[in-house]
Amino acid sequence: MTVLFHLSDLHFGPKFNAHLSELILQDVRDAKPDLTILSGDFTMRGRVSEYEQARAYIEKLPKPIFTIPGNHDQPLYPGAMWERATTPWARYMRYINATVDASIETRDVFVVGVNSNHRIVPGGIWSASQRRWVEQEFLRASRDACKIFVTHHHLDWMNKYRPFGQWFPTAHLNWLKSLGVELILNGHTHVPLTTQTAQGIVIAQAGTSMSTRVRHGHGNAYNRIVIEPHALTVQVMAFDEQADRFEQRSEKTFSRQRIQEQLS
Ligand SMILES: [Fe+2]
Ligand SMILES: [Fe+2]
Repeated sequence: MTVLFHLSDLHFGPKFNAHLSELILQDVRDAKPDLTILSGDFTMRGRVSEYEQARAYIEKLPKPIFTIPGNHDQPLYPGAMWERATTPWARYMRYINATVDASIETRDVFVVGVNSNHRIVPGGIWSASQRRWVEQEFLRASRDACKIFVTHHHLDWMNKYRPFGQWFPTAHLNWLKSLGVELILNGHTHVPLTTQTAQGIVIAQAGTSMSTRVRHGHGNAYNRIVIEPHALTVQVMAFDEQADRFEQRSEKTFSRQRIQEQLS
């Protein structure tokens, strides 16, 4: 059995909720998951001070940790626009992780994540070379490993125009299906969502874990995911103000055999 914690949209900077960050830190320490995945938007405007706070927080989380960047992780403020145009990921690579695309293998899962952000284009996008890299990485996965793909932008737009998700989602889902991906993790919308696509792939979208920039009536949340040989379970852990802690809001279990039948 593998337990994953999936946090997203921490957004250090304005509207950051330090109290929630402490509660989540304690939850992760208590659970000691096999892997903690952070799917982007570590900062609000990509300022150095925000990155320093994000780095300090990540240092406190139990390892291993897997990260990809979000659209808010490129500098966006007067005085930083040249840097955004020329080296948009330099700060992310200095403070969070040395590469913007990443992969990691644990006992039962093989995780590949890509930087889906662009300095100008709204919404998610990735290149042909990233696509080739993802294909090659997944080839290294062992036969029984659960293949997980991580991207900041959502592939299920939930019939909402904003915020912009990944462009051409159906084509990407068909491609991920051909690679045997069972689970997609994303953030960006600040709305928790657990669903299964027409391709059979399970999507676990995390809400914002610790920013007060909540959307569409949803509060703060993170995902706890359990991968077993025969089942994949996604639990949404949502902040309960009265109890002053994150509590399980929903749980959905999917048969991995059925997922694999749909993928084949
Ligand atoms: Fe965000
Ligand atoms: Fe975002």
